[in-house]
Order: sequence, then structure tokens, then C-alpha cells
Amino acid sequence: MSHQVTIQPSGHQFTVQSGETLLSAALNAGFALPYGCRNGACGACKGKVLEGRVDYGVFQQGALTEEDKRQGLALFCCAKAESDLSIEVKEVGAAKDIPIKTLPCRVEKLEKLAGDVMAVWLKLPSNERLQFLPGQYIDFLLKDGRRRSFSLANAPEADSLLELHIRHVPGGHFTEHVFNTMKAKDIMRISGPHGSFFLRESDKPALFLAGGTGFAPIKSILAHAFHQQTDRQMVLYWGARDLASLYQPQVPGDWQREQGNFSFIPVLDAGQPGWPGRTGRVHEAVLADFADLSGWQVYACGAPVMVAAARQAFTARGLPEGEFYSDSFDFQSPAAGA
Ligand SMILES: Cc1cc2nc3c(=O)[nH]c(=O)nc-3n(C[C@H](O)[C@H](O)[C@H](O)COP(=O)(O)OP(=O)(O)OC[C@H]3O[C@@H](n4cnc5c(N)ncnc54)[C@H](O)[C@@H]3O)c2cc1C
Ligand code: FES
Repeated sequence: MSHQVTIQPSGHQFTVQSGETLLSAALNAGFALPYGCRNGACGACKGKVLEGRVDYGVFQQGALTEEDKRQGLALFCCAKAESDLSIEVKEVGAAKDIPIKTLPCRVEKLEKLAGDVMAVWLKLPSNERLQFLPGQYIDFLLKDGRRRSFSLANAPEADSLLELHIRHVPGGHFTEHVFNTMKAKDIMRISGPHGSFFLRESDKPALFLAGGTGFAPIKSILAHAFHQQTDRQMVLYWGARDLASLYQPQVPGDWQREQGNFSFIPVLDAGQPGWPGRTGRVHEAVLADFADLSGWQVYACGAPVMVAAARQAFTARGLPEGEFYSDSFDFQSPAAGA
């Protein structure tokens, strides 16, 4: 049995199946309701039931009091619909709507994706979830007070583990540790989500430009967009030093086969035997394909020099300055604790 839920004031509607929580049905339908623990403990998902009946589910008393219930409030991470509903809650529309948390986490798994790229999966405590917009990043808070930033590569709907793609910086304080001594079960502290690199609503086609591990936040953005069955035209240019550094080609390769509105153009720095594809600097491959970028949105992520070159060259090809969104993988400055 299913019920129809209307969110006020947006008027958005979604269907919830029996046994499913209102939060998970809303997220599955692509509506970003606020949440924290997803476990009835923090109160971040609290909202008002304007019409209809809910089963409040299992939660901690401090998160939803009897007085809250009298006022019509419920925790949407636990509540289930018993009739069609009208609920009142402010949807997350921008990064500023999401609280930044400091959380402990455990290294669940490490996997070398290429000679200099390590995938690291982090597990949060069982009563915690990290809400984020696809494209945002977290900071590791190191014991000596330094912070190191890494983009989230998983989509928010697949958040049981946080996935990071970490490039080895030879001699780097933190990434040397990741490649040489970090191991499963290590405990770390993170803060997040941070950043404003996320997909803006628009009818325009979107061009993604990734350099190396700049693929990480773009993977999150695209996985989420396809989960929401976007019909926007999207194209990804992913530049890497060599074939081995193109560390998860099957991910965009599969999307290209499955999604009629997506194409993937890998670009290697230089030709190598058996490589039939594009070579050269990744943003120059875009310039070779597009005489006019005035009707596009661009999302660029990777080394600062690549991002700067792309911004300059793409705006010269007609891209409005305000339609260039980027995350530049800058290094932490001494002021930030390097
Ligand atoms: C918002 C944001 C998101 C990021 N996301 C990612 C990500 O998803 N994946 C990823 O691999 N990296 C990402 N980075 C870059 C990453 O944070 C740095 O590479 C990392 O902090 C290096 O830490 P370290 O302690 O090993 O190096 P440090 O000890 O800080 O640096 C050692 C030396 O290497 C230089 N250096 C440091 N980082 C780099 C670099 N990236 N390239 C070239 N030289 C460098 C420094 O100037 C210094 O000379 C991101 C950066 C930012 C700002
Ligand atoms: S109580 Fe924490 S998300 Fe619902």
C-alpha cells in the first residue's frame, strides 16, 4: 500500500510505500529534506504533519517530546505514513542549509585504484549520517591541528560509507600516511560537508571537466543526477596522465551505455601504444569540440592550473562567467595549518 505526500511550502509530491520512512521516500524521489543521524536521535529531520496520520516509529525521547507531538511535529527519519499526508519542512536548497558537523569515523577499507590513487571508504558511528550535496568535500582533522580536504565521491543516497579518491603527493604530510601506514579500522576525525561545488538547477546542458582525482566529486554529482533520472544533456571530459591513471573508466563508461543523455570523453596527456582516444590537455579537447559554449554550464575540478586555464579559455568561447563552477584542488596554506 502506498500514500501520497505533499511537502509544503514547495508543493513537491512523492509517494511513500508502507513500511518506508518519509525521509527515505523523499530522498529517493530526489527531494532533499534535512537530516542528521537518520536514526531518531538528533532531531534534525523534525517537521510538521499538517494533514493526515503518521506512525511515529522508534526514536529517542529527547529528539521528539510529547509537547512536539502535540504541536504536530514528527521525526521524518522514523515516521511512516498511515494516510495521504501534507507535511511542512524546509527543503535543503543550498549548502548553507546543511549543518557542518565534526564526527569521528573509522577507515573501513582502502583500495589502490592506480599507482598514485587510493580509494578510502569511511564509516561513521552507527547513529550518524553526513548529509551533503553531491560535489561537496570533507576535511580530515589531524591530531596536530592540520586539516586536509578531500571530495566525497559517493552519491548522498549511497551514504552507508563515505568514499574518497586520494592522490599521493610525494612527501606530503597526510597522503604519505594514507599510502604507507593508514589501515582499516584506524579512527579519524572529519568535518563537513564543505564547499559550493554542486549541480545548479538549469535547463542548460552541463559539461564536466575532471583532472585526475577531480573525478571524485563529479562521480558523486553524476551518480546522483542519474539516480534522479535527469534528462539534462551531460558530457564528461576526464583528463589523466596515462591509461592507468584513468582509475575508474568503467564508471562513466557504464553511464554512457545506460544513459542516452550522457557522453564520456577520456583524454590522456600523451599518446601511448594501443590508445585510440584523445590526447593533450583536457580543456583543450573541449575547445577542439566546441566553438561556442554560450549555452552551457561548466563544472571543472582538479589541479588549480587546469581549472584556471579552463575558466579563461571557456569564457573566451562565450561561456558566461557565472556559469563556470569549479573546485580547485589547492593545497592547504600554512594559515590553514599545513
Ligand atoms: C576543496 C578541496 C578538495 C580536494 N579534494 C581532493 C580529492 O578529492 N582528491 C585528492 O587527491 N586531492 C584533493 N584535494 C587536494 C588535497 O587536499 C591535497 O593534495 C592534500 O591536502 C595534500 O596533503 P599532504 O599533507 O599530503 O601534502 P602537504 O604536506 O600539504 O604538501 C606537501 C607538498 O606538496 C605540495 N602539494 C600538496 N598538495 C598538492 C597537490 N594536490 N598537487 C601538487 N602538489 C601538492 C605542497 O605545496 C607541498 O609542497 C582537495 C583540495 C581542496 C582544497
Ligand atoms: S532524528 Fe536524526 S535524522 Fe531524524
